[in-house]
Amino acid sequence: MNAKVILVTNQKGGCGKTTLAVNLAGVIGINSKVLLIDGDPQGSASRWAVSCSDDKPFLAAVMSLANVTDKVNREIKKYLADYDYIFIDCPPAIDNNFTASALLIADLALIPVIPSPTDLWAALGIQKLIRNTSEINEKLQARLVANMCQSNATISKEALELINEFEYEKFETNIYQRTAYRQAAAFGGTVMDLDNPKAKLEITALINEIKKIL
Ligand SMILES: Nc1ncnc2c1ncn2[C@@H]1O[C@H](COP(=O)(O)OP(=O)(O)OP(=O)(O)O)[C@@H](O)[C@H]1O
Ligand SMILES: [Mg+2]
Repeated sequence: MNAKVILVTNQKGGCGKTTLAVNLAGVIGINSKVLLIDGDPQGSASRWAVSCSDDKPFLAAVMSLANVTDKVNREIKKYLADYDYIFIDCPPAIDNNFTASALLIADLALIPVIPSPTDLWAALGIQKLIRNTSEINEKLQARLVANMCQSNATISKEALELINEFEYEKFETNIYQRTAYRQAAAFGGTVMDLDNPKAKLEITALINEIKKIL
């Protein structure tokens, strides 16, 4: 095995990094060997995954590297041979070295964005870091994913124009604002354990898109 490394990152807080990292890792974990690395000292991903019940175990291995600030890429490298996919939940700040170091070994930087102008402006900053890293790590790809879309409206024209300003494409799949995502966090599972077919469909569609480009 030689794991594909997917870094879920955006310096903007609260855009859904942990929600997507945990759901993607747990759902891909149904059929593949997955490691979820918590890079955030807040420890949300670790706490989420340990709050699941014994009859519905979380289907990815979970570990925290939040205390490793230097050469995170070397630490991650140790696990490449043991997994098909490694997901990394990044902290909101990008000035603490964790994200920069982990990007060196990533195949994909997945950038969740809430499609509103203020959130999109805040996300622009990560591009420079990814661009600089791409010079060293040539395999690195980056994609945006719209999260917390409102079900009664498509992405606004203003937001779409801003998304088009990014150097990176957006995944076609949009993730909508749904209570299932909050519920999944509360019981330590993924949307696959909940009765919300639309959430299951969109997470599965996003996974298919991710697999296609890796
Ligand atoms: N698609 C969604 N639908 C509904 N609620 C969502 C969705 N995505 C995220 N949330 C909720 O929004 C809040 C922020 O999400 P999350 O913690 O995943 O963001 P984050 O980017 O990891 O935040 P931080 O920067 O603090 O680490 C949480 O309460 C989460 O349950
Ligand atoms: Mg988080």
